[in-house]
Amino acid sequence: MNRNIVCIGAGYIGGPTMAVIAKMNPDRKVMVVDINAERIAAWNSEDYSLPIYEPGLVDVVKEVRGRNLFFSTDIEGAVKECDIIFVGVNTPTKMFGRGAGRASDLQYWEATAREIKRFAECDKIVVEKSTLPVRTAAAMEAILNGGRGEGEEGTKGSGIQFTVLSNPEFLAEGTAIKDLLEPDRVLIGGPQTDAGAKAIQAVVDIYATWVPRERILTTNVWSAELTKLAANAFLAQRVSSINAIAGLCEATGADVDEVARVIGADGRIGPKFLKAGPGFGGSCFKKDVLNLVYLCESFGLHTAAEYWMGVIRMNQHQQERIVSRLFAAMFNTLANKKIALFGFAFKADTGDTRETPAGTVARLLAEEHVRVTITDPKALVNARRDLADLSDVTYEEDEYKAAEGADAIILMTDWRHYPTLDWNRIYDSMRKPALVFDTRNCLAAAELRKIGFRVLNVGK
Ligand code: UDX
Ligand code: ADP
Repeated sequence: MNRNIVCIGAGYIGGPTMAVIAKMNPDRKVMVVDINAERIAAWNSEDYSLPIYEPGLVDVVKEVRGRNLFFSTDIEGAVKECDIIFVGVNTPTKMFGRGAGRASDLQYWEATAREIKRFAECDKIVVEKSTLPVRTAAAMEAILNGGRGEGEEGTKGSGIQFTVLSNPEFLAEGTAIKDLLEPDRVLIGGPQTDAGAKAIQAVVDIYATWVPRERILTTNVWSAELTKLAANAFLAQRVSSINAIAGLCEATGADVDEVARVIGADGRIGPKFLKAGPGFGGSCFKKDVLNLVYLCESFGLHTAAEYWMGVIRMNQHQQERIVSRLFAAMFNTLANKKIALFGFAFKADTGDTRETPAGTVARLLAEEHVRVTITDPKALVNARRDLADLSDVTYEEDEYKAAEGADAIILMTDWRHYPTLDWNRIYDSMRKPALVFDTRNCLAAAELRKIGFRVLNVGK
């Protein structure tokens, strides 16, 4: 068995993870392959215009690309050349048929399993990186190690052994490189057999070049798969919990940031993930909680399913509440008013707009016939694509231009430079009375009020 590594899927997970693995394992060849030729071309672009924005990523890619990290569309060649195969293909929520709106769509993942089987010529370790429902590794194992049927393409003879491991990714976008370089923990789940133990060790060796050994946790496959869903569900639940408190703060005169600070000072609770806002977005939280709901339902655990579903409902409600409050504050009519959304990415430091609360808010505003203008330093390309069906939306790179003539600004993403903009200049260019709805509570509200703005916050 050789030490070469390939990752199938050159997305938000595969790209950064393999770049860091290549950096920290200069003696290994690391390949990243994808069916999307455009994406691979971007990873290989001479001017490093990579397909995803992630702070620090370009520097790592500059260091390792062409040294021991290679991007390609040659899936067959890479599977033949590498004995450790990571799978990082997309597993979006299924929008059709059984489990629609809840279960993961596993078609890309299954196609990948079949490709691996078709091209492999010797034993392989297959490592799941995509978030997958519990027990998918078993299905992967069944596809890979099941007999190659009569007439099945590429039958290369039997006897090839595939060992399937689960190595879920805990990196968060915007801090991916830091999370990869200094992880709280690395989790590797594998079968409790001799072959399983050897495979786990082979993957431990990859990470042990830079991660302290005590932070590399090994479990059985099912625990690893479930842990990923549960960890994201717990984080999402904290966000929904503080947002549920935010509504109560608005009704009573309490301040959610003060409440969160004091709750977080309890060592048992801790201060992280207690920031009230427009609700969570991103590719993982909603998808993973829905997966958990689907799993609970499949095992007849209906009360548990409802419990987790509440986390999603609370999140949707938060965005509806933002628009309702704005509606009330703008004299119960939004038609023909101009509203500028400051930020469209689901959080700062990323261009990713999957499940972004700003998308929901933009659509709710469009229903009210608002003239929406969107500005964002990294996410305008994705915003244009996501909202292509809405005609009354314009996109503006420059924040000052976006605000010109607007009746209101809704700050949706906590981009670090927003508090440092010239808010006097912005105020002067807006229609009066000018309103700012700071859904991230990151602007100096008292200063804005001094300038003349009406200010709304979440949870105050
Ligand atoms: C998340 C997990 O953190 C990561 O471990 C997992 O691997 C993938 O999913 P990510 O979606 O990239 O990462 O971002 P994260 O920082 O977790 O934020 C998720 C969403 O919650 C964002 O929309 C963010 O704005 C929101 N959030 C987060 C809050 O509204 N309040 C908080 O206190 C924290
Ligand atoms: P994630 O956030 O999980 O990394 P992305 O959507 O960013 O998800 O990336 C997944 C990548 O997997 C995409 O670039 C997609 O083209 C790729 N992909 C999907 N199916 C296959 C496949 N069968 N073979 C190779 N790559 C695939």
